[in-house]
Amino acid sequence: MSVQKKPIRLIVATCNNLGMGKDGKMPWSLPSEFQYFLDTTSRVSRPGKMNMMVWGKRNWYSKPDGTIPLPNTLHVVLSTEMTSAPDHAHFLRDDFESAIRLAAEPPLAEIIETIWVIGGTQVYQTAMEHPWCDLLYITDVRAEFQCDVFFPEFDRKLFKLQEEFPGVPSEIKEENGIKYKCQVFKKETADIQ
Ligand SMILES: NC(=O)c1ccc[n+]([C@@H]2O[C@H](COP(=O)([O-])OP(=O)(O)OC[C@H]3O[C@@H](n4cnc5c(N)ncnc54)[C@H](OP(=O)(O)O)[C@@H]3O)[C@@H](O)[C@H]2O)c1
Repeated sequence: MSVQKKPIRLIVATCNNLGMGKDGKMPWSLPSEFQYFLDTTSRVSRPGKMNMMVWGKRNWYSKPDGTIPLPNTLHVVLSTEMTSAPDHAHFLRDDFESAIRLAAEPPLAEIIETIWVIGGTQVYQTAMEHPWCDLLYITDVRAEFQCDVFFPEFDRKLFKLQEEFPGVPSEIKEENGIKYKCQVFKKETADIQ
């Protein structure tokens, strides 16, 4: 079976201490940051192309209103317990590598551009260790929130913070009195050529 390598990219917003969730939800309300997430993950280079979004089960069931439907996007939910894809998801897989193969092998390989991994913790951890993972889109929410779910620690010498990045605002933003900065960390050695 032919395999087309696809870039695997993580996208997350974290506050101090890499906190990213509380009681199954986002700890903050930042509608403009959420819009940046939707715009970034649904962007494709030309009509007919699509991205694949990989969701952990808890994340799927706690997604904010207005996430779905998302243009140009196929959704894969990961679970070892579920027996069929939940409503509005396109696929169910029971491990990360099977989700990646879906995007990298025929027939979907012809149309998928980017695999967007959108958490939670275990999915992020597995994804960032994958050789095709080249970019981490991490919004730095500059505030303290109580969290019970955290983004995994990662090697900042391997994934290097970019001063500027195409399509990513470079200025510090503020909403609801909360400052945040959109950032990208890049792994130069990703195996996606
Ligand atoms: N701030 C942000 O940007 C952001 C981003 C993402 C999530 N979050 C927050 O994070 C929380 C949800 O994340 P979470 O870490 O608690 O849960 P999660 O990863 O969404 O869901 C965990 C479940 O997903 C399934 N799963 C995960 N990885 C798998 C794999 N590799 N293979 C097969 N199944 C897999 C398992 O389901 P089974 O038990 O069925 O096997 C596991 O119990 C929420 O609070 C959400 O709001 C925040």
